[in-house]
Amino acid sequence: MIAQTLDAKRILLVIGGGIAAYKCLDLIRRLRERGARVRVVMTKAATEFVTPLSVGALSNDRVFTELFDLDDEREIGHIRLARDADLIVVAPASADLLAKMATGLAPDLATAVLLAAAVPVLVAPAMNPKMWENPATRRNVALLRADGVGFVGPNAGEMAERGEAGVGRMAEPMEILAAIEARLTGARPLAGIRMLITAGPTHEPIDPVRYIANRSSGKQGYAIAAAAARAGAAVTLVSGPVTLPDPAGVAVVRVETAREMLAAALAALPADVAVMAAAVADWRVRAEAGEKIKKDGSGVVPSLAFVENPDILATIGHHASLRPGLVVGFAAETQDLIANATRKLEKKGADFIVANDVSPETGIMGGDRNTVRIVSRDGVEDWPDMGKDAVAERLVTAIAQRLGRAAHGA
Ligand code: CTP
Repeated sequence: MIAQTLDAKRILLVIGGGIAAYKCLDLIRRLRERGARVRVVMTKAATEFVTPLSVGALSNDRVFTELFDLDDEREIGHIRLARDADLIVVAPASADLLAKMATGLAPDLATAVLLAAAVPVLVAPAMNPKMWENPATRRNVALLRADGVGFVGPNAGEMAERGEAGVGRMAEPMEILAAIEARLTGARPLAGIRMLITAGPTHEPIDPVRYIANRSSGKQGYAIAAAAARAGAAVTLVSGPVTLPDPAGVAVVRVETAREMLAAALAALPADVAVMAAAVADWRVRAEAGEKIKKDGSGVVPSLAFVENPDILATIGHHASLRPGLVVGFAAETQDLIANATRKLEKKGADFIVANDVSPETGIMGGDRNTVRIVSRDGVEDWPDMGKDAVAERLVTAIAQRLGRAAHGA
């Protein structure tokens, strides 16, 4: 039995043109299963991808497509369509539709409804990565966000076009559903939870101009911080040097070295949950040179002596007084994934280890996707290959469940 989380909620779904339009059929089914009443407006382009007939069969209602349908306009005009809803969801939202929304153009029924909307609007963009990255789209997205329009996705991954990859895939129906539930029911499963997250690499100086680093991009830790904040947690993100923007609603503390990261992490305690996603350098140079190390012409190369860095996860996982109730670590391995992750669970005092294979051929380090296995004392759970944002959402759901704050079933 699926919980009626959206009981009697009225959703107006605007389906835009794009190959992802077919995913709306699944979305409509899931919305109705949860008790929502779904009415659908399709753009002309959308009807090229899915038929109003199949959409209508799933929504169990007639589907609205044209602005100047006199019968409709008399019976139920675009103003009423916009007003008779608790939430308007635009999926897929093409670059063109976002542009029209941002500038207030209304050449057809879908855009007229959106212009007349007095209720919250949530969009699920889907487009080619080049279109998503285009400065015009960036401007339109910024305008829409400033107007209070909510966004879910797009995600990173393969596009329908062969060989195209990047950010632009529409969020999965389950993710759109979760965003709708969060909007309409105020479901914030981590409300009141304090969370510490570490992310990114550390830089360990050799001299004033050189340092030792690793290939971590920080993307997974940042995605977890963003997802946790959306779920209502008060998040402190202690980040090594990365090029990512601060996630919305997250307190970011930027550090360089492992020792600085440890100090900042300890300063963020007490917390209810710690997620240690940083790729902390295991060693630092014993004696950092005060001046740039120069070639002296002798041909003798310098040798560096290392000392071990503090283990931030182990320090927090075994902390006598400040250990958070739930401690999540990561295990980046290139061999014996489960055996090594299980060892880390004990050694570091963690409750879960998110284990991933970071062999170069997986493209995980620095990439947008991740295939993880969750190792806990209850066993090993394999998650399918997904975007780092989707891994983050799912991890947040798992954390909420573990804290007895389960949001909703799948
Ligand atoms: N970690 C940490 N502090 C360190 C090293 C690692 O907090 N000095 C954390 C990482 O953030 C991650 C977990 O420990 O959550 C495991 O990191 P990983 O690099 O896989 O393990 P290591 O402890 O470095 O072990 P090894 O390099 O021997 O595999």
